[in-house]
Amino acid sequence: MARAHSNIALVKYWGKRDAALNTPAVGSISVTLDALYTDTRVTFLSGLVADEFWLAGCRNPVTRISHVLDLVRGHAASMGLPAAGLNAIVTSTNNFPTGAGLASSASGFAALAVAAAGAAGLALNGRELSILARHGSGSAARSIFGGFAEMHAGTAVDGSDAYAEELLDRGAWPLAVVVAITEHGEKSINSTVGMNESKATSPFYGAWLDSADDDLADMRAAIRDRDFARLGELSEYNCLKLHSLMLTTRPALIYWNAATVAAMHAVQALRARGVPAYFTIDAGPQVKVLCLPGDAATVQRAMALVPGVHEARISGLGPAAHRLE
Ligand code: DP6
Repeated sequence: MARAHSNIALVKYWGKRDAALNTPAVGSISVTLDALYTDTRVTFLSGLVADEFWLAGCRNPVTRISHVLDLVRGHAASMGLPAAGLNAIVTSTNNFPTGAGLASSASGFAALAVAAAGAAGLALNGRELSILARHGSGSAARSIFGGFAEMHAGTAVDGSDAYAEELLDRGAWPLAVVVAITEHGEKSINSTVGMNESKATSPFYGAWLDSADDDLADMRAAIRDRDFARLGELSEYNCLKLHSLMLTTRPALIYWNAATVAAMHAVQALRARGVPAYFTIDAGPQVKVLCLPGDAATVQRAMALVPGVHEARISGLGPAAHRLE
């Protein structure tokens, strides 16, 4: 059994360099969240005719799961371990709504990588686990690590340099994230499909790629200097740049609802009142508000008052993915 926490990108990944290897076209920087996590158990069994994936007690499609398990079986074969020839039962639970832009694939595939490697008897290091998780979902490569993590786009044709690593321990700069949930349902277009459509159709895609390294360098400097205003402004800017790319994709990727927009205005109003708070939004309608721990309760109250916000949860920065037993 393994637990991996969700993460929120401050400088975002959108677009693939190599679809088969699931390497990203741009690097990304995220914070791992302690309040949102996935628990996953992997059991390799003889006599099982196929892999099975059970999420919150319901049987789910196994394609991406089996892809990651195949890589684990490949490692196991090279070590002469029995899991090499066995199918597996994977059971998973999220402590937050699945598929609604709360990065369930990030925590999900990071937990799967750690649980499957452990169940197979492999001793993989953080980089190897990050690469394994990336094959399930790009953002999952970052959830192997706690605190602040950076994913490298890499240049190697085999994907061996496309992994994440920790930039800063969570204890070194405690921040809070208020997650405003505006919708509990599944999102309409998943990230994989959406980012491929952006690459194929948006006239902004080239500019997105060209400006990524500047944003990454600025964010690294903001984290190094513990400059919260710079981190926050850059996070909002990068988020809105991503959503400009999404909006100019054909057909348009409009992930926001009315409450998403109202929450963005509420964050700006908080800043006008002197509360340093900054929003970021992924491929879904939820709004994550970055703030200092001492302001988290104020930000939570402000978010809970936004019409259409069902719930506002406070999270600190989370730990690395780890085995539970
Ligand atoms: C907007 O990691 O879900 O959350 O690699 O195709 O599974 P796949 O995509 P995924 O995309 C995440 C996109 C994002 C930004 C981010 O987390 O960096």
